[in-house]
Amino acid sequence: MSLNLHQHVYTKGSGSRTLLLLHGTGGDEHDLIPLARSLDTEATILSPRGNINENGALRFFRRLAEGVFDLADVERRTRDLAAWLNSAIDHYKINTSELTAVGYSNGANTIAAMQLLHPNPVRSSILLRAMITAIPPQLPNLSAARVLMLNGERDAIIPLSNAQRLAATFKSAGAKIDQHALPCGHELIADDLRLAHAWLRSQPTTH
Ligand code: MLT
Repeated sequence: MSLNLHQHVYTKGSGSRTLLLLHGTGGDEHDLIPLARSLDTEATILSPRGNINENGALRFFRRLAEGVFDLADVERRTRDLAAWLNSAIDHYKINTSELTAVGYSNGANTIAAMQLLHPNPVRSSILLRAMITAIPPQLPNLSAARVLMLNGERDAIIPLSNAQRLAATFKSAGAKIDQHALPCGHELIADDLRLAHAWLRSQPTTH
């Protein structure tokens, strides 16, 4: 898979961790970089831009309406993203044991779908405001996966029950899942950063 599939930011850090960043609808590859820097000042950053243009708003897969997804497109885009990620890992010599994917909204949904639908190197993920997109009939074995889900109690886009079903799906697949419902809506708040920072620090590394 050509690296040109996704325009992207790659910034080599002095630390061992790599953060893969997937932005929300209407964002771009620069959006989550300040957040990533707050999580780990020394991390290498790999941040692709979503290829779907929805009336000028970039995202990672097509939807028919808010919360109504084109499931064939979810399948295809996440398969292509997994292949792109493998090419980026080879090209930039990324240590996959220290790779954490961080996504917001559509980016979080994309990471979750990629983890559930396609074999890929993402074991560790921070999903900010994720919901269910596609669940395969046969769940993969995600016993090596560690997932942090942060959702908003008053999120008008994502009912908390939907986010809880996604967490339960990860758990059924064997993933170690931590989920928090925060006192907010779809927007990020300071608690997101605090919890994500603490969770990342608690993850095993292979120094
Ligand atoms: C999605 O399309 O993935 C969700 O509705 C979140 C978003 O609006 O980006």
